[in-house]
Amino acid sequence: MATDSWLLLPPLLLLQLLGVWLADAQTQQGSITPGSSLSPTAQGAAASWLSPSGRFGFGFYPVDDGGAFKVGVWLATGPQRTVVWTAERDDPPVSDGTLRLTFDGRLLWSAPGGREKAISRAGVPGSSAAMLDSGNFVLYGSGGRVVWSTFDSPTDTILPGQSLLPGQELLSKASEGDWSTGKFRLKMQSDGNLVLYPAETTDTAIDAYWDTGTFMVGFPLTLNLTSDGVLYLSGNNSRYMKNLTQANPPSSSGDRAGAYFRATLDTDGIFRLHSHRFVGNSSNYSSTHSVEWEVLKDMCLVKGECGPNSYCQPAGNGAAGCLCPPGFEFVDATQASLGCRRNSTEGFCGGRVAFTMAAMENTFWADQPYAVLSSASAEECKAACLGDCFCEAALFQDGSCTKQLLPLRYGRKNQNYTAFIKVGPDEHPEGTGFSPAREKKVRVDILVICVVLATSSVVIFAVSAILIHRYRRARGYTRPYGTSESSALDEDSPTRAFSYQELETATGSFTVELGRGAFGRVFKGSLAVNGAGKPIAVKRLDKMVDEGEKENLVRLLGFCNEGSNRLLVYEYMGNGSLADLLFKDAAGVNPCWEQRLRIALDVARGLQYLHEDLETHIIHCDIKPQNILMDAAGTAKISDFGLAKLMMPDQTRTFTGIRGTRGYLAPEWHRNSPITVKTDVYSFGVVLLEIVCRRRSMELEEAGEDVTLAEYVYERLRAGELGELVRGEAVDEAELERAVRAGIWCVQNDPAARPSMKSVVLMLEGNMQVPVPPPPPPLS
Ligand SMILES: *[C@@H]1O[C@H](CO)[C@@H](O)[C@H](O)[C@H]1NC(C)=O
Ligand SMILES: *[C@@H]1O[C@H](CO)[C@@H](O)[C@H](O)[C@H]1NC(C)=O
Ligand SMILES: *[C@@H]1O[C@H](CO)[C@@H](O)[C@H](O)[C@H]1NC(C)=O
Ligand SMILES: *[C@@H]1O[C@H](CO)[C@@H](O)[C@H](O)[C@H]1NC(C)=O
Ligand SMILES: *[C@@H]1O[C@H](CO)[C@@H](O)[C@H](O)[C@H]1NC(C)=O
Ligand SMILES: *[C@@H]1O[C@H](CO)[C@@H](O)[C@H](O)[C@H]1NC(C)=O
Ligand SMILES: *[C@@H]1O[C@H](CO)[C@@H](O)[C@H](O)[C@H]1NC(C)=O
Repeated sequence: MATDSWLLLPPLLLLQLLGVWLADAQTQQGSITPGSSLSPTAQGAAASWLSPSGRFGFGFYPVDDGGAFKVGVWLATGPQRTVVWTAERDDPPVSDGTLRLTFDGRLLWSAPGGREKAISRAGVPGSSAAMLDSGNFVLYGSGGRVVWSTFDSPTDTILPGQSLLPGQELLSKASEGDWSTGKFRLKMQSDGNLVLYPAETTDTAIDAYWDTGTFMVGFPLTLNLTSDGVLYLSGNNSRYMKNLTQANPPSSSGDRAGAYFRATLDTDGIFRLHSHRFVGNSSNYSSTHSVEWEVLKDMCLVKGECGPNSYCQPAGNGAAGCLCPPGFEFVDATQASLGCRRNSTEGFCGGRVAFTMAAMENTFWADQPYAVLSSASAEECKAACLGDCFCEAALFQDGSCTKQLLPLRYGRKNQNYTAFIKVGPDEHPEGTGFSPAREKKVRVDILVICVVLATSSVVIFAVSAILIHRYRRARGYTRPYGTSESSALDEDSPTRAFSYQELETATGSFTVELGRGAFGRVFKGSLAVNGAGKPIAVKRLDKMVDEGEKENLVRLLGFCNEGSNRLLVYEYMGNGSLADLLFKDAAGVNPCWEQRLRIALDVARGLQYLHEDLETHIIHCDIKPQNILMDAAGTAKISDFGLAKLMMPDQTRTFTGIRGTRGYLAPEWHRNSPITVKTDVYSFGVVLLEIVCRRRSMELEEAGEDVTLAEYVYERLRAGELGELVRGEAVDEAELERAVRAGIWCVQNDPAARPSMKSVVLMLEGNMQVPVPPPPPPLS
């Protein structure tokens, strides 16, 4: 091993480690010569190569009882070995075979039947190999240099002296006796954060269940372990150190050299530091095992412990059980952790059955909602899900209501939430239903987080199925599953497109007004269904026509949804995007300062409208110059509301889809913080600085400079050199300084420190003082 790397450790640590080094230093180099081989079964052949101390072995180790073997490195902890590395872990075990250091310098595993597998992946042939006392099995090149080692490619464990490098991950094993890839991973992200995720996920905050929070230190970090059990992160040439564990006190017998540490991502998804202590000598030793440290104790916090649509219930002592919510059954009753599925195939959209909401106290799913309603009551939350045929479940917490699609992931008990699950008829009848007569207010859900529906000024409708459900429930109406085909518009028909004509007729030319919202009026109407009149409510978003802000949104003119065709019709924006205008230098037309400031205000007003003027607040989530389009009059309008994301049936893809664009992402995307309107404010701040400087935010970083555009701008602001930002262009200095200060405020790390869009508009207009901002967060 590379002993000189230890010289960088603090002197104290160095001394502590000295004892262990001596053992390493005495390791015979390259004791395994080409031609040497191992076999698990052949008479007279060795099954393993041991380290000089005999503690570590490399070779065939037995798996289960069936006489099968895998190849790996283990710590000899008694009758059962503790495997710390496995070759080709997802290959099936073999019952026979040979492992050989070939004469051309490769470590080759030949299984019976002529199958061969190269175990070492070195670019250079090896000339000898050794099982070291550190637990590293190494292949040396001709110059004595290590050309390949098991430490380079960790599986589920790191040992003292071994590192998890940026981008590398540990993958848990499947089960105690099965070393193949299991359900969890620990990733040393290149942003410096060490994060635990379920195995089959992308690196998204919503999937993370533990992290070190070390993602903004400014350089990549490495996870290292010392021989005395200090697990730490280090970076910037070891100038940065963060200990995750304490140095381990010597055991009562004082036998430090006999303590072996390993950090393993265990089968249950918990990352632990284990110690094995030995007493006695190799001919008579006993070992004890203990867990020195673990990232968490509550198994229910491990995301993926319980499968889709199930929820985790603590079973005492940190253990957990997986249960199904009402209306669901286990996918496999013998393996609860595989998750649950609905026990009926009846869909909620287009079905003919009345549904109800089953309430589950103290339960929630830590998953991304597709819609968020703020300041709703529990009853309204329930009703909102019931009235939306896409909605499968709703989570209610303290006035906030989120609507969820299947699969419901990462369910567990949490006293702060009540879950409402949509279930079939006659299940969990609740006495608390509210009568339609008392429900005067027509609640219409228009908006979806990160998605804008219907900002058209013409007519967009919302048909409230809620009333119907309520009427029917009040009358005790139920229907059996799977009756005849539904007719054109049955009582539980799915959301569909209506023609204007149809709605005009249905509402008697919009005569009976039910109520007025912030941006539209609701009319009563009636649709003919099976010869009877079906009451409906139609919301007409016509109030916005003569109001200013919506001018800053690209108009949705309509939609078409026929078969596999899903189209949205927008007004035509002939002048390209803001990105073209700012960065492309198209035809040498550089927008002047006044024009740029106007564009910034256009965008700010558009966002203000989305964030504050609508009944339900909208988070755009992907504000960037490419999504800001210029109309023929030179007005900037926000576009790309990603309605497609709402339509996408596969929810997991929705998560990755809504993550915005690098360079414009607020820091909260990288941590487990909620996404709020302030997330857009951050992106807007980046865009504003780009507009001011006419430079892309990623430009500096891509040029290898260690600063963000915001940091660069901030430095110029502090130095009183704002003129540099506009490269000598003649601008109104007060306006420039206001815009720069506002931009820096918008990109603050703490969402609460960022101003609202309303304030930003006032700042840009010069109607509000802009205080001197604190520095922006450094490059992550
Ligand atoms: C890395 O360490 C050096 C020396 O201590 C320090 O000057 C520099 O700021 C550090 N780099 C970062 C990005 O913190
Ligand atoms: C941690 O490990 C990395 C990679 O092996 C090494 O470069 C670094 O120096 C180590 N850190 C310390 C403090 O020894
Ligand atoms: C980390 O642990 C080492 C070894 O115990 C100790 O010397 C060092 O002071 C610790 N560093 C911090 C920041 O706690
Ligand atoms: C190992 O220890 C036992 C007693 O614990 C002793 O009898 C034996 O001689 C020792 N063997 C070696 C090789 O030191
Ligand atoms: C082996 O070691 C244990 C504890 O060190 C001791 O109690 C036992 O007597 C030893 N056995 C032999 C055969 O020496
Ligand atoms: C579905 O499960 C519920 C219990 O959660 C049960 O009452 C209902 O009868 C089941 N329905 C079917 C079709 O199995
Ligand atoms: C419930 O909410 C309170 C206050 O917000 C918080 O302190 C507590 O940790 C939450 N409980 C759980 C189980 O999340």
